[in-house]
Amino acid sequence: MQSKVILVSGASSGFGRLAVSELLKRGHRVIAGVRGGEVRAKAIFSDHAALWDKQLFAVDLHLENSKTFETLTPLLNERFEGHLDVLVNNAGYGLFGSLEDQLPEQLRHQFDVNFFGPAFLTRYLLPFLRPAKGRVLNVSSIVGLYAVPFYGSYSASKHALEAMTESLRFELAPFDVQVGLIQPGGFKTDFAGRSCVYAKGADLPSSLYTRRTHMLKRLFETPSMRLALANPARVSNLIAKRCEQARIPMRSIIGLDAWLLHFAARLIPDWVRVALTSLAFKKVVFRE
Ligand SMILES: NC(=O)c1ccc[n+]([C@@H]2O[C@H](COP(=O)([O-])OP(=O)(O)OC[C@H]3O[C@@H](n4cnc5c(N)ncnc54)[C@H](OP(=O)(O)O)[C@@H]3O)[C@@H](O)[C@H]2O)c1
Repeated sequence: MQSKVILVSGASSGFGRLAVSELLKRGHRVIAGVRGGEVRAKAIFSDHAALWDKQLFAVDLHLENSKTFETLTPLLNERFEGHLDVLVNNAGYGLFGSLEDQLPEQLRHQFDVNFFGPAFLTRYLLPFLRPAKGRVLNVSSIVGLYAVPFYGSYSASKHALEAMTESLRFELAPFDVQVGLIQPGGFKTDFAGRSCVYAKGADLPSSLYTRRTHMLKRLFETPSMRLALANPARVSNLIAKRCEQARIPMRSIIGLDAWLLHFAARLIPDWVRVALTSLAFKKVVFRE
């Protein structure tokens, strides 16, 4: 396998961090997009110290600030002759809670990071990806297909990412640039801890949703719930595989829960899906 040049956003933890290690192991040259840039990335990837500036590079990427993308141009031109094979849009976080409790700036920021960030980064990097006949892998979520209560904004941001991915796949096909989605269910990363943000209004006495928001939060933080989540190395291995194989599918679903929700969204009539979702949330999540 020929060594590829691959940029992974959100490389500081979870799927992104594991994907960087896996890609390095497979001999690729990897640019780790990490908030905090090289200083933070060197601490995170201390195991790979010998690979710095040869196989491993870092950029300080903040998805809501497209000015930070500009450091990529000199890096790509000077180190890789303007060549980029794969962009993995992995960075993201979740805003949870009722729409009514979310501050407008919380909802906007959710879209800035999960949708506009990957959209603008892809736009910025297409002049490097096109001559390489490269590819874009967008890490979505099964909730990008199936929305559930109190996940509305996170889910909407991933739905938007999915629609853009699908459309872009056709737009870029004439240039031999492939575009695909990775659609995981629940995996044991830091997501449930550090990447979950809650609607700020839920803490106000006027909120009608405090109890339910706190129940959801407790559920995410329950150790047994975390133990039930799947091994994130499966996702990073899938990302590495999609970076290497000749043709990639539009959608790569991963995790039993993701497959179940995928079939529920695609095959079950809406009224059955609505009934099942409300029952699951009443009896399991909110335990009424
Ligand atoms: N874990 C799951 O069960 C699951 C399921 C479905 C989909 N996903 C998706 O998988 C992706 C990775 O999540 P993960 O599970 O690996 O969670 P994670 O371990 O919490 O990693 C999230 C990554 O995104 C980065 N990030 C967050 N906001 C950013 C911003 N504004 N600018 C740049 N980077 C930012 C974080 O960087 P910092 O360290 O600087 O905060 C971190 O590197 C996300 O898109 C998530 O929606 C996860």
